[in-house]
Amino acid sequence: MCGIVGYTGFQQAGPILLEGLKRLEYRGYDSAGIAVINDKRQILISKVTGRIANLCERTQDGSSCPGNAGIGHTRWATHGAPTDTNAHPHVSNNGRFAVVHNGIIENYLSLRKELVANGYHFESETDTEVVAHLIDMYYDGDIKKAVIRTLSRLRGSYALGVICQEQPEKLYVAREASPLILGVGVGENYFASDVTALVSYTRNAIYLEDGEFAEITPDSITVYDCSGHPVQKKVTRITWDIQAAEKGGYEHFMLKEIMEQPAAVKATIAPRIKDGEIVLDDIELTGEYLGSIDKIVITACGSAYYAGCAGKYAIEKICRIPVQVELASELRYSDPIIDERTLLIVLSQSGETADTIAAMKECKRRGAKTIAIVNVVGSTIAKEADHTIYTWAGPEIAVATTKGYTTQLAVLYMFSLYAAKKLGRIGEEDYLSLLKKLKSLPKQIQEAIDMNSSIDRMAKKYYNNSSIFYIGRNTDYAIALEGALKMKEISYIHAESYAAGELKHGTIALISDNQPVIALCCNQSVMEKTMSNIVEVKARGAKVVAVTFRENEKIVSLADDVIFVPNVETLFSAIVEIIPLQLLAYYVARENGCDIDKPKNLAKSVTVE
Ligand code: AGP
Repeated sequence: MCGIVGYTGFQQAGPILLEGLKRLEYRGYDSAGIAVINDKRQILISKVTGRIANLCERTQDGSSCPGNAGIGHTRWATHGAPTDTNAHPHVSNNGRFAVVHNGIIENYLSLRKELVANGYHFESETDTEVVAHLIDMYYDGDIKKAVIRTLSRLRGSYALGVICQEQPEKLYVAREASPLILGVGVGENYFASDVTALVSYTRNAIYLEDGEFAEITPDSITVYDCSGHPVQKKVTRITWDIQAAEKGGYEHFMLKEIMEQPAAVKATIAPRIKDGEIVLDDIELTGEYLGSIDKIVITACGSAYYAGCAGKYAIEKICRIPVQVELASELRYSDPIIDERTLLIVLSQSGETADTIAAMKECKRRGAKTIAIVNVVGSTIAKEADHTIYTWAGPEIAVATTKGYTTQLAVLYMFSLYAAKKLGRIGEEDYLSLLKKLKSLPKQIQEAIDMNSSIDRMAKKYYNNSSIFYIGRNTDYAIALEGALKMKEISYIHAESYAAGELKHGTIALISDNQPVIALCCNQSVMEKTMSNIVEVKARGAKVVAVTFRENEKIVSLADDVIFVPNVETLFSAIVEIIPLQLLAYYVARENGCDIDKPKNLAKSVTVE
């Protein structure tokens, strides 16, 4: 995700801003920039795509932007590709205000239209630029009032930093759903998206809450609530070291990213539900086109492929379009039966996986229309596809994907409702009912996390097994696939996922005394069948861990251990069922002392065949 920093005091701001941005690099970014007010009350801007090293070179380590107050930004592109123009800070047309932002302004399109109608012109494709022009539009000499009025117009999430050339030593900051911390110095003050960028200068911090904004000078920090009333804030002593701070206090990025999933799924879904309708503004598919295709092919690798396996059930059930899920490494060489009547959906967190790129190109060559569901804006797959729907998960640092996977599922669920509506294959009542269930998924993911806060104890029972089976049917089987991969790739325990109904056709020969079997039991339509599979493996000595709802008393009584998840819509259950399996794999790997964020032999993005 993006990162923002700010400084005002007796030192040169440039070098401090650059150092702060370097501390935020771990968050992932594709461009960076700074804005400093010089002694002539001019705002000097420097911003570049690529690494912060490029920015340091461009500004001679900040010296080309002299001044004692400024703001800085690392951009993780969401709206608009990574370019110098789209990089922050963004400036009002008259050069009076500069703004940096972390978050998503969901109503930026309507604000943009209003501002253009009021004579403003836009340089960038970003949502953030509307803030610079809004503040200017409301400014009549009183910045605080202009900030309050601007904030009242914004919908979405933001951590904002603002400077004004007419108030050269002041910084204005505001927070809504994106973290923002103020650093308290002596004769100088700071702000940043997280403590990592502050601890080199001060360990005294003020944490802004949602709805609060602040006016910062070298000698004062005044915090206000959204109506402009001063708020008393306590100063917190930061005890974290830099390493811990980058992980938000978590031991590993993977655990941090598991915990970020409610917010990541919400950030992916919320901006695309407008007035009770799913608006996939990234794509324009007509009902006529969707009615003309004879199948959807989903292609990907690894966990992205398993997300496709889970999403298939929702698309087929709701849209009644045949869906084939194909491993990209197989599809590319299989002389596939693909033509212009095929809609290809390409799933990829990184957008750079070689097999997936190759498979997509092969299918495009054969006439397929392509939709990419990716997390990295401006990535190769995003550029190559006819349409792109971004998963706004923010950067995923751990090699083992978690929020990348669940946000892919969220997009597939949205797509299934979007397409069914376009095709006229879903009634209004069912549509609204499923839409309501979709909107509650972030909360239910959080419930799944909370219900499994002590799963580390269960990990201590299973961490020293040489193999673990994951079984399930239908949607539960799709989860078994991803659950087993998580266990394999970070704990190095052999984990086999199997369609529960297939066990008796051979693999049950491997079940012996105390063999752990994780049985996914959340799909009511096949529950009885899965129960019989549990009985089968228990009869051969297996220890069964059932993943199910609290209400499933029969399963609970049958299993040796139970992992509970919230009872959600079956078609969307994968996005919730996977949570405890991510956590179980994490804690088993931790018990085994594995390098969880960087497992042996693995890379975050497999950019070679
Ligand atoms: C997932 O935990 C793995 N790291 C891996 O299977 C990954 O999902 C696969 O390499 C695909 O990567 P992509 O989503 O970036 O294309």
